[in-house]
Parts: sequence; C-alpha cells; structure tokens
Amino acid sequence: MSAEPLEIYLEEQDLAEGLRSDVRVGLTADPKWLPPKWFYDARGSELFEEITRLPEYYPTRAERAVLVERAGDIAASTGAKTLIELGSGSSEKTRLLLDAFTRRGGLGTFVPLDVSVSALLRSTEQIAADYPGLRVRGIVGDFTRQLDRLPTGGRRLVAFLGGTIGNLLPAERAGFLAAMRAALEPGDHLLIGTDLVKDPAVIVPAYDDAAGVTAEFNRNVLRVINRELGADFDPAAFSHVAYWDPEREWIEMRLRAQRPMRVRVLGWEVDFAAGEELRTEVSAKFHPAGIAAELAAAGFRREEFWTDPDGLFGVTLARAD
Ligand code: AVJ
Repeated sequence: MSAEPLEIYLEEQDLAEGLRSDVRVGLTADPKWLPPKWFYDARGSELFEEITRLPEYYPTRAERAVLVERAGDIAASTGAKTLIELGSGSSEKTRLLLDAFTRRGGLGTFVPLDVSVSALLRSTEQIAADYPGLRVRGIVGDFTRQLDRLPTGGRRLVAFLGGTIGNLLPAERAGFLAAMRAALEPGDHLLIGTDLVKDPAVIVPAYDDAAGVTAEFNRNVLRVINRELGADFDPAAFSHVAYWDPEREWIEMRLRAQRPMRVRVLGWEVDFAAGEELRTEVSAKFHPAGIAAELAAAGFRREEFWTDPDGLFGVTLARAD
C-alpha cells in the first residue's frame, strides 16, 4: 500500500514567512539566536542522520536500546489504534514500535509529523511499503503549532522521541506539554525520549564530533537562510561551538564569527563582531524526577520510566489523566 499524500499544514509560504520572522527577531536580538528547526532542509536532515551514526553521538543508540527492550510493553499497555510521531524525521527507531504493534495487532494508523518534507516523503513511502495494511498519514507541520490538527478518536499514542523536547526552552516546554495534554483524551498516552544529565565529558563530544559532521549541520542553517532569504552569509567564516551550561544543564550550539562581518539579509545588514556568537540550538538534559514533575504539572501521570543499560537516556511512558 502506498502512503496517502502528505497533509501540508505548513505551506511553502508559511515556512518562508516563519523563517523571515525568526531571522528578523533572532538576528536583531542581543545575543543573536535562531531556532533549531531551520537546520532541517534536505541536506540538514541528511546531516542529522549522519550524526545519529557517529561514535560520539550516544542518544540515538541509547534510545534504540530502550525501545528494543520495551516496544512490546508499550504496545501492550497503550493498546493504541493510532500512533502519532512528532518530529518524526526518518522514523527509523519508530519501526521498533510499529513492529511490536504489528505482532500484537490493532494499530490502524501511523501519523508522522515533521517540518521536513523530504524526510517525510521518504519515510511515509517506505513505511507504507513495509507495513501493509497500515494507514500512513504524513503531516508537514511544526509540532509546537499543529497539535490541534492531530487525528482524534480511538486510543492514541503520541511518540516524541530523540530528546527533541530538549530543544524547547523551559517555558516553551511547559506550554507544549499543556497543549499536548489538551489535544489528548484521558487514557491516551505520551511516549517521550529525554537525554539525561551526565558528565559533560560525555555530552560535549556528542555535539562536537571529531569528524566535524555536527559543525556542518550547525553551519547548514546559514545555507538555508542564504538560499531561502537571499542572504550572503559565508558559512566557512563561522566556527562551531558546543557549550555546556552547567546551571541550566543544557548544551548550546553556537556559530562564532571568526572575523568582523557585515551580512546582507532581507534587505538590511547584520553586523557580527569578531568572536561574536549566534546561538542556534539549546538541547536540554534532564533528571528523572524533573521529567515526572513537568509531566504531572501538565496533567500526565508517569506510568513507566526506562533507561538504556548505561543510564544515558530516558524513555517515559505517561498517561493523560
Ligand atoms: C534531534 C534535537 C534531539 O538535540 O541532540 C544533534 C539535534 N543537534 N546534534 C539533539 C542535534 C546537534 C538533536 N535532536
């Protein structure tokens, strides 16, 4: 069976308008910043897939180890009819869930939602081909904005994997979880992957790998802005920085200007001083108790919390109360 045509809630022009306004806000702020969702054009999505295979980048392997062990439990205890995946990317690890639901029977529909059209086209076609009888409805959208467009009815499981929730700032996270809860009915479930706080000597290399793939991924946002908004950033003139903030317990990716620069973007000029840094991503790390508290505050009850054998990454199964 082939996948249904993608449902596009983020039209090309919304995307372009969103990028324009984020660039306007972020590049006139002090310090300058950009939201991480703009990394993921076709090239950025490929670079991210490459990151997930790097020796230093443990989160993907650690989360997969949990899902290998627990996918059967998740399928049994949620009894979901619909699996919705937010920020689905390649949906590679999600196949472990789809396999478990297939063995158990009862899952009718898979709904991956992502900002990347290229990633979604590929994943929906492949999954539809590999899981005959499964209805596959890809949604192009932003998981912070399209929660009210999710399919309703039946028992639903929403999967938000990879630690992507860590890309939201604490206040955004609270808003997101509240909106998530509002979109669900009592008895629906949320499966959420979170990278855990640990020795920065383990975390930092995951965001600053020896092969320089993360650095290229980071600079890719400048290429996206050049192409989409006709800007003239010189990506090679920015160096990659991965900074661990010990108070806030998060990684910040930044791009540091190696020399003074004046960049033309959207008809105006943005000046960078030598050494000035542009923040491109926050990736928060969590403590088990903090995750449970944030979920409870939003109206979820934690049913399970699992980690990989090395205790690097946590996966929480929560029920909407
Ligand atoms: C996909 C958002 C979970 O924060 O670890 C990887 C993205 N950034 N390397 C993360 C990312 C730099 C990743 N998430």
